[in-house]
Amino acid sequence: MHRVVLIPGDGIGPEVSNAVKQVMEAADAPLTWEEHHAGLAAIELGKDVVPESTTDAIKECGVALKGPCTTPVGKGFTSANVQLRRKLDLYGAIRPVRNLAGVETRFEDVDLVVVRENTEGLYSGIENEVTEGVVTSLKVATEKGCRRIAEFAFQYARDRGRKKVTVFHKANIMKLTDGMFIRLAEEVHTASFPDIEYEQKIIDAGCMRLVQDPTQFDVLLLENLYGDVVSDLCAGLVGGLGVVPGANIGKDCAVFEAVHGSAPDIAGQSKANPLAFLMSGVMMLNHLATTRNDATCRATAVRIKTAYNKTLEAGSKTGDLGGPLSTTDFTQAIIANL
Ligand code: NAI
Repeated sequence: MHRVVLIPGDGIGPEVSNAVKQVMEAADAPLTWEEHHAGLAAIELGKDVVPESTTDAIKECGVALKGPCTTPVGKGFTSANVQLRRKLDLYGAIRPVRNLAGVETRFEDVDLVVVRENTEGLYSGIENEVTEGVVTSLKVATEKGCRRIAEFAFQYARDRGRKKVTVFHKANIMKLTDGMFIRLAEEVHTASFPDIEYEQKIIDAGCMRLVQDPTQFDVLLLENLYGDVVSDLCAGLVGGLGVVPGANIGKDCAVFEAVHGSAPDIAGQSKANPLAFLMSGVMMLNHLATTRNDATCRATAVRIKTAYNKTLEAGSKTGDLGGPLSTTDFTQAIIANL
């Protein structure tokens, strides 16, 4: 059994967490959950946004499955998500974006992976009021950060048999920060990954190409903010935020979470699609299978994946995908297909 930290989050977080726990249990996944809190849920319990007990538990278990955490806009407490990634140095975010059988979208054969730098850029959170009416925000790039995310993206591409890494940047304007990002990506490519094709595109034109024909992309490598925005854009290519999972990987631990947020507009109504969070759980099982050489985790991941694909192909879907099912009914349909 693998001990796994579960952070239910808030908004739709507890609903999709329950769904995933039920599916994992029905599939006999070799996991024991240790529930901890972060964000709003932690604050409501009188704790810090990211309590030390939560980060300690993740360090001890090595893996966590994390639900979405609300961050107030323009005021209030700092983002639990950003803090957690920084405290645990989860520098590499992976978001696989694929068409799913039974989910009709504008494009077919989309199969790309967004790799996002998770700890630097404008997410430094360093903002200043220089004088009344003038504020600044600091974009940070370090050679260490740029190099390791480039190595991470190329290594990921090689391990998965992927052919090409494309960097989106704005180094024509941000010549130092984005300039460093592409310089180190080029260096890493030339020095260690000449077998993988490498290209770079200015992000505005890159986005235009993405929405025209996403099938021309394979692995996308982006700094923090661009990665955040482009992840949601890519989710829109394959059915929306309900179907794109994610992983935040560091040297010592990994936190798996969907790309979507806490969706306050549908929270508590059994309308949320639990699939993105379930797919994140499947990514976690595959991570455990690889890092701990556990064939049972691999087999469970395959079983769950087969079950949700079968469910979608049969037309059983939640409202975001045009289907009639509630969160709980969709979860039961997946369990029935295990
Ligand atoms: P959001 O991703 O929560 O929702 C955007 C839209 O997509 C909404 O209409 C929502 O109903 C829909 N949606 C999202 N996930 C869905 C699902 N699983 N099934 C069906 N529909 C779904 O983004 P929004 O509204 O911009 O942010 C809400 C809160 O979430 C904010 O406080 C934000 O800071 C936080 N957030 C947290 C993240 C995290 O914990 N990793 C990531 C993104 C946002």
